[in-house]
Amino acid sequence: DAPDPCIMVIFGASGDLTKRLLIPSLFNLYCDNLLPDAFAILGMAMDDFSTESFRDRMSEDVRNYSRQDQFDDHAWSVFCDKIHYMQGRFDDAEAFARLKTFLQALDGRYDAGGNILFYMATPPAVFSMISTGLEAVGMNEEHDYWRRIIVEKPFGSDLDSARQLNRQILTYWKESQVYRIDHYLGKETVQNLLAFRFANGMFEPLWNRTHIDHIQITATEQVGVEWRGGYYDKSGVVRDMIQNHLFQMMAYLCMEPPVSFESEAIRNEKFKLLSAVRIMEPEEVRENAVRGQYGEGVKQDGSPAKPYRQEHLVHPDSNTETYAAVKLRIDNWRWHGVPVFLRSGKGLRTKSTEIVVQFRRAPEFTFRGTPAAGQLEANQLIFRIQPNEGIELRFLAKRPGPSMHMRKVNMNFEYDEAFVTHPGTGYETMLYDCMRGDASLFSRSDLVETSWQIVQPILDVWKSEKARDFPNYPFGSWGPKAAFDLPAAAHRRWLARSPKQALSRV
Ligand code: BG6
Repeated sequence: DAPDPCIMVIFGASGDLTKRLLIPSLFNLYCDNLLPDAFAILGMAMDDFSTESFRDRMSEDVRNYSRQDQFDDHAWSVFCDKIHYMQGRFDDAEAFARLKTFLQALDGRYDAGGNILFYMATPPAVFSMISTGLEAVGMNEEHDYWRRIIVEKPFGSDLDSARQLNRQILTYWKESQVYRIDHYLGKETVQNLLAFRFANGMFEPLWNRTHIDHIQITATEQVGVEWRGGYYDKSGVVRDMIQNHLFQMMAYLCMEPPVSFESEAIRNEKFKLLSAVRIMEPEEVRENAVRGQYGEGVKQDGSPAKPYRQEHLVHPDSNTETYAAVKLRIDNWRWHGVPVFLRSGKGLRTKSTEIVVQFRRAPEFTFRGTPAAGQLEANQLIFRIQPNEGIELRFLAKRPGPSMHMRKVNMNFEYDEAFVTHPGTGYETMLYDCMRGDASLFSRSDLVETSWQIVQPILDVWKSEKARDFPNYPFGSWGPKAAFDLPAAAHRRWLARSPKQALSRV
């Protein structure tokens, strides 16, 4: 389906997100002929821009953030004419009245049929102010046109605040109007998890506790907190990455087959899966969750990196974790007894997001008395979410020669060999889907709350018990030692990659 004609309003348009991601994504869609003809953008923020100066600001950086090799100046100038700006405060009722008038004029000019997409590119603290402002002038109401809002993360900072935020938003909007964004779901490789699992008959019979030993989901970053210390110090990696991005990947990987590809069918299965994750007791948190914080170390370019506690806007005694590894249990028929290990952190050796599905080992007895005895390793299926996007299957093969020696080999699928890919920002599909009314890639209120429910005991224990060993890993290393003991306690180990392997192809 082509997206409906519409106007997209960006609240907080003078911020980084608009310049770095939203405008480049919309421009990429435009260049791919995926935007409706009747389309315009209205940025609103407190900063004092005119439409002209706002367009100039958007033009400054767009080359850096859109697909550079294909930058088309003519297309940009046509696209740029669709961008407008309105200055206004979110706590000012009069500003929303002006907004309404502005939107009516734009609707007439672009023939957008009354459809409006409101994008909250603002801190969550003002979501409810904006909702109230829109409601006061009736802009949340749908008739023969639609009104939708996109809400950025963080969606709450714990279970209570997420519930409260949902309540506030759902006071003025129906669930079907609310699109909660998680940019990991915009990644092709994450979406492909569903295609891999449900468009292929081969793996589904093996996708359960009988054949799978355990699952690992890793998202590591080389960078530290950069300029975001103020936000990050109140957040930490569990809130920043695990509760949302890693759980979304886990849900796609482990959920039951949906009855259709309708968004509700998919989201129902994700909800069922997350609801089956065992909520840990405090003593289980101590046993199954490891935290870390980076100290001083060395950056990729060899320059010294300062410790987390000395980053801008970070408390000098901060207890915030920049690394976490967690072992979860899914209490349903399919996954009972199959641990899921998750880990994520900043200031690490490589930037890599990967999922490893480790199968059970073959029985050894066949090779008794041969050099292969004791060499049998389990098969692994590896989803390389980023970088070097692809999927590989690792299995054992006989080494050529007179005796039965084994070696691990790979079957490898690479995105950039199989497809002509246009790397975008990752926001394109999500914006496109929202304009089509397809909410599959967005989170529902119950999904968000269930995710918080799972991490809440970890947050509680870590808040009440100050970490005594912080900082416990050097910037640029593989993370704290305790994280390696976590799977080892269950006779398993993280799939370790040398930086060279992680950065080049295995
Ligand atoms: C964001 C987090 O949601 O995801 C950041 O707030 C993190 O801290 C980023 O760096 C990672 O995203 P990606 O797409 O680079 O893996």
